[in-house]
This record gives sequence, structure tokens and C-alpha cells, in this order.
Amino acid sequence: MDRYAVVGNPIAHSKSPMIHQRFAQQTGQQLSYEKILVDLSAFDEEVCSFFALGGKGLNVTVPFKEDAFRYADELTPRGKQAGAINTLAIRSDGTVLGDNTDGAGLVADLLNLGWQIQGKRILLLGAGGAVRGVVGPLLAQQPQEIVIANRTVEKAEAVAASFASDVLKSSGYAELAGQFDLVINGTSASLGGEVPPLPEGLLNGNTRVYDMMYGAEPTAFLKWAAAQGVTSLSDGLGMLVEQAAEAFELWRGVRPDTAPVIQSLRAEMAKSA
Ligand code: ATR
Repeated sequence: MDRYAVVGNPIAHSKSPMIHQRFAQQTGQQLSYEKILVDLSAFDEEVCSFFALGGKGLNVTVPFKEDAFRYADELTPRGKQAGAINTLAIRSDGTVLGDNTDGAGLVADLLNLGWQIQGKRILLLGAGGAVRGVVGPLLAQQPQEIVIANRTVEKAEAVAASFASDVLKSSGYAELAGQFDLVINGTSASLGGEVPPLPEGLLNGNTRVYDMMYGAEPTAFLKWAAAQGVTSLSDGLGMLVEQAAEAFELWRGVRPDTAPVIQSLRAEMAKSA
């Protein structure tokens, strides 16, 4: 049976095995998918032995996405642009291809929600790996403007500069002005229950607000947006399932149906809350 896994540290709470097993059942594919806890200094060794023992593909999560970028023999254009890799696949000649499916996952989830990107003014918060992975696919949807804003403004400037696009701007939080159609939180602030310190007046009743983080309860960022009167809100659970679907398609050549998987994960999370 073809073998797949997700590698990370920590990894215990990963939902990837559940998601890929559902995709496999749904599409009639025979495969196994496990989670592997990898020592912080043992990424190359672990991945090398996984493929040497016949493994077909890996998902890569925190903190190894940059290691996977270095490890891959070849990169997809979007993986190269992101500078971080979340999917590895072995090819028939034994070389390993690296891809980044996070941005495609975000775009697919936004479109599932009926949230148009084309022609919109977008605020993207954060300038770490999570944000770098989604800039290219968002730009490909032809927004009117994307402003990348970060606590450390130099990091936002560096990300914007690396894409050389006229519609991409960078900013600190305090300098932000005007209203946005779509605000995407790509910072890890919600992990600590915090919200980036944004000035007032950026949101209106039609603004849509997305947090790439997810949990059984609404994130601190979504609670903050709801308190400002925003009604179109989403966490990143759909993005998680959509990025997995992109990886599954790369490995197996079949596109799974994501909607029932998103729905059942949501139901299970609500039960465990
Ligand atoms: P990831 O790979 O998840 O993007 P990262 O590279 O560590 O992780 O980046 C974390 C991002 O969240 C950064 O943009 C960070 O801002 P700084 O670059 O200024 O550090 C942002 N972040 C983390 N905690 C935050 C907080 N409490 N308020 C605002 N931004 C925060």
C-alpha cells in the first residue's frame, strides 16, 4: 500500500491523517497516512529514510517548511516563490519534488465562501512563512491592492519587495488607512489570544475577515472583528482541508471533494469544544 505521512514537531494534534484518509475513502484510493514526530535536528535523516523505505509523499508542517525547501531536488514555481514547502513527492526517477499548497488552499476556501478576490482591496496581516506562502496565489486572482502589514515593518517590506508587483504594498500597523474589502490574519497572534494592534476605521459592514488559524472556539481575531460589526467571518479550517486536497491531487492525480470533509471536521470540533 502506498505510504504517506505528515512530519512536524509537535504533531500530535495534526488533522492531516483524518483528512487524507477521508479523501482516500471518497476517491477509492488505497493508501496509508500517518503522523511522524521528527526531532528538531533530524529532518533530513527522517525524510531520507521515509523515501528510501518506499514512502510516496509527505506533508511538512511547523517548524520544517524551510528545511523541506532546502531538501527538495526540484521546486514547483509556487513553492519557489513561497520559500517554504509543505508537500514533498517522490518521482519515478527517485528525485523529490517540493510544492507549497497553502496559498492555493486559502484561495480555494475564499472562493468556496463566495468571497471575491478580483478587484478587491486586501489587508494581509503578518510577514512570516504563512503569509509568504499565500501572496503569489492571491496576486494571481488580480486584486486591486494587497497591503502587507506587520508589527516588524521591515519584514513586510522584504516580503513585498520579493514579489515585484505594483499592486503589492507594505505597511506598519499604525500607518494603515482607508477601508478594506477583505482582511486576512496570517500572524500567529491568535495562538496567544492576542490581536494585532490595528487602528480604527479599516473595517466596514461589508468587510470580510478571515483568520488562517482555527480552533473549536472563534479566534481572538474573529471575536475582535465581530465586535466591530463584521458579519462575514471565517477561520482557517477550510484552508487546511483545501491545502490537503491540493497535495492529494499532486500525489494521486485525483481531486477529492472538500465540502463534506470540511463539514465533518467542523462538526467534530464543535463536539469536542
Ligand atoms: P509563521 O510561519 O506562522 O508565519 P512566523 O514566521 O514566526 O510564523 O511569523 C509569525 C508572524 O506573526 C509574524 O508576522 C509576527 O510578527 P513579527 O514579524 O513582528 O514578529 C506575527 N505575530 C506573532 N505574534 C504577534 C502579536 N502578538 N501581535 C502581532 N503580530 C504577531
